[in-house]
Amino acid sequence: MDMHTLLLSFLFVSVLHAHTTISTGTENFDASTVDTYIVHVRPPPNFSVDMSSIKLEKWYRSFLPPRMASSNTHQAFIYTYKTTIFGFAVDLTEAGKEYVMKNDGVLKVYKDNLLPLLTTHTPDFLGLRLSGGSWKKAGMGEGVIIGVLDTGIDFTHTSFDDDGMQEPPAKWRGSCKSSLMKCNKKLIGGSSFIRGHKSAPPTDDSGHGTHTASTAAGGFVDSASVFGNGNGTAAGMAPRAHLAIYKVCSEKNCRVSDILAGMEAAIADGVDIMSMSLGGPARPFYNDIIATASFSAMRKGIFVSLAAGNSGPSSSTLSNEAPWVLTVGASTIDRQMEALVKLGDGHLFVGESAYQPHNLDPLQLVYPQVSGVNYCFLLKDVAGKIVACEHTTSADIIGGVVKNAGASGLILLGQEDSGHTTFADPNVLPVSYVDFPDAAVIRQYINSSNNPTASIIFNGTSLGKTQAPVVAFFSSRGPSTASPGILKPDIIGPGVNVIAAWPFTGGQDANDAKHKTFNCLSGTSMSTPHLSGIAALVKGTHPDWSVAAIKSAIMTTAYVVDNQKKPILDERFNTAGHFAIGAGHVSPSEAIDPGLIYDTNEAQYISYLCGLGYTDVQVEIIANQKDACKGSKITEAELNYPSVAVRASAGKLVVNRTVTNVGEANSSYTVEIDMPREVKASVSPTKLEFTKMKEKKTFSLSLSWDISKTNHAEGSFKWVSEKHVVVTEKPGLQNKECNRVRGCFFHRAGSGVHGYKDSKVQLQDKLQLSRILGTVNENIDINL
Ligand SMILES: *[C@@H]1O[C@H](CO)[C@@H](O)[C@H](O)[C@H]1NC(C)=O
Ligand SMILES: *[C@@H]1O[C@H](CO)[C@@H](O)[C@H](O)[C@H]1NC(C)=O
Ligand SMILES: *[C@@H]1O[C@H](CO)[C@@H](O)[C@H](O)[C@H]1NC(C)=O
Ligand SMILES: *[C@@H]1O[C@H](CO)[C@@H](O)[C@H](O)[C@H]1NC(C)=O
Ligand SMILES: *[C@@H]1O[C@H](CO)[C@@H](O)[C@H](O)[C@H]1NC(C)=O
Ligand SMILES: *[C@@H]1O[C@H](CO)[C@@H](O)[C@H](O)[C@H]1NC(C)=O
Repeated sequence: MDMHTLLLSFLFVSVLHAHTTISTGTENFDASTVDTYIVHVRPPPNFSVDMSSIKLEKWYRSFLPPRMASSNTHQAFIYTYKTTIFGFAVDLTEAGKEYVMKNDGVLKVYKDNLLPLLTTHTPDFLGLRLSGGSWKKAGMGEGVIIGVLDTGIDFTHTSFDDDGMQEPPAKWRGSCKSSLMKCNKKLIGGSSFIRGHKSAPPTDDSGHGTHTASTAAGGFVDSASVFGNGNGTAAGMAPRAHLAIYKVCSEKNCRVSDILAGMEAAIADGVDIMSMSLGGPARPFYNDIIATASFSAMRKGIFVSLAAGNSGPSSSTLSNEAPWVLTVGASTIDRQMEALVKLGDGHLFVGESAYQPHNLDPLQLVYPQVSGVNYCFLLKDVAGKIVACEHTTSADIIGGVVKNAGASGLILLGQEDSGHTTFADPNVLPVSYVDFPDAAVIRQYINSSNNPTASIIFNGTSLGKTQAPVVAFFSSRGPSTASPGILKPDIIGPGVNVIAAWPFTGGQDANDAKHKTFNCLSGTSMSTPHLSGIAALVKGTHPDWSVAAIKSAIMTTAYVVDNQKKPILDERFNTAGHFAIGAGHVSPSEAIDPGLIYDTNEAQYISYLCGLGYTDVQVEIIANQKDACKGSKITEAELNYPSVAVRASAGKLVVNRTVTNVGEANSSYTVEIDMPREVKASVSPTKLEFTKMKEKKTFSLSLSWDISKTNHAEGSFKWVSEKHVVVTEKPGLQNKECNRVRGCFFHRAGSGVHGYKDSKVQLQDKLQLSRILGTVNENIDINL
């Protein structure tokens, strides 16, 4: 009877779709029991990088059952891999899989899997402005190549024009693989990896990939808007970076074997950054092939930016938890596309919608129900009325049904989980999305009034009126499941109602006409490319920095106060914790000048993996190195990460951290500790003096607390240099470096410190509701 049961069944439908390849078992020779597997093997003895692909394929073939091994290899393999992992994707029967698994040289066999895909104003909100702004200081990503692994691209979009772009750097080895796509100096590569068909053009059938690519590195486009709303100059975060497109997803899902093939190509082509707005549930890293492939990318200095997931706000709902990738959560910006709802009793609410046609004068307001539960399908007698529907399923599905039933307007009622988060994605009729507190009043009014009425008044776009950033309800939360001692997510960035490029499917000959259609979408899919672009700005300014250095720079310069100078809030307007915001909200202009960085190398990651208790083979799967754990092991807390998390039951923590000077050669930093009273904290030494660039200094951090009294605590400390006058979050302590509307940004080479409860949080039904809400909002068709 209740909502959750209904929704669960909805979820089951979609989940089962994703797993229809599960074989039922016994009859091995039935073609329908053939599944795609990714077979991860040890490299051939005497492997060298110049080994021919024929030799490598011969090696791979030796793992196949005899009948397949002797047949034409090109038919047998869907993909062969050698950059991310050694191995191949292949269709096998259950018996074939058993045969392959028995071979000693096989490290792991993964069943191929489907993973879900999880702006005009955002550059401004992030302090990136053309005139005198930070783009001047940070550059615009010149010479940096961002590989976007997504649903492809609409290359005719004006965002991908190459005005002002330089030639791609000499190291670039990619190209436009299909004659049906035109490359230029902005769009320097495009290829498609769908079920091994590499000759197809990377056409974007969904819009998701066009949106994310333009968010990362779209060029400047004037008068960009969604139906006139959010009008402004659109630009990606790194407007002069190059884009290389790898289509690895079709519509909403991405096959792991395709993602892996795309990552291989991106590494071989020479990208600097990989942007991947996708992810599945967390799993141990040796079972997480994206984590494994990202390890190979990291080793080659390629920065991987991945979505945290849309399964919030419940705890431990993250995707992509590996410490060598950046895990990106989502928050709001200060823009609203106001769709006001005025009730018959005079109450006025500010809802949102990017589609703002004519206003609706007071009309009868109905709340359709079946057995006491709101039901917005099979509607009767709603012609000329405004229908109020619970926003429990895709807004465009509800919109379509309500419009077809002849209604004049729609009010989408926010759910408890979604708190104050509202969406604005365009719909097919006049609509207002209202948040949960407003929805509660509207429900109450309908229930208690004999003749409920409402009007919808479209009030255009407002900027700076709302408190922001606020964590989006759908943004997945920590603690990490695979590695609870690493604080995740790492960072939050804009991911609600992000306006970015969108394919034009209006019937025009797409190859001739340039166009500038934009759409408004929400999700960690949208925040991820923001961070990919910002990583490109950092990389462009510091080409020699490691992946860990770029991560550290982004994390330690993040801010934790909003535009009201108050701590950043979550969707319920409670102070957002570290498990929601990680290090905080990204601050691009600060990220290029962090002063100090926490660097990490491959060897330390391997020691960390061994410290997780992984076996030699499990570490070999990730790091492609045998007997790795004969070397040193470290605990999670000992990884030189820019944050720390520790079990509350431990009672204390003593760890060393090493910082590298990337600021002024001669500089001196003193520590400032900000811990809750119940945690005793000290840092030693309290002062770090540097005389050289890249000089390293180690300090020790000690924390202790009473385990009988404290099971959750959060704090931070920062290193403060003389050059950068530090401003704390307390109002009144501002200086000239702190005059931005967004609050104060301190150059803290700081660390979030976090204690987490010992007990595991159970996932709840509500979580699954949010997951549906979060995901459907990434797929909107605006061709009304
Ligand atoms: C590997 O190299 C060694 C020494 O160079 C050689 O004896 C051996 O036959 C090689 N093995 C293979 C499989 O090529
Ligand atoms: C957007 O703004 C530009 C310049 O400010 C203006 O010329 C244009 O007409 C506006 N477009 C819409 C749809 O409001
Ligand atoms: C309407 O009010 C009745 C009586 O107070 C209550 O039982 C019911 O749950 C309410 N329905 C809604 C949709 O709020
Ligand atoms: C509607 O827009 C106007 C002009 O931007 C603004 O002053 C007013 O506050 C808005 N109304 C509401 C209810 O937000
Ligand atoms: C921290 O570093 C100091 C000095 O380098 C060393 O003596 C100590 O053993 C280290 N402590 C830990 C916990 O690694
Ligand atoms: C740093 O300070 C030392 C001593 O104070 C001085 O000798 C040196 O030249 C300074 N280096 C730089 C790069 O300013």
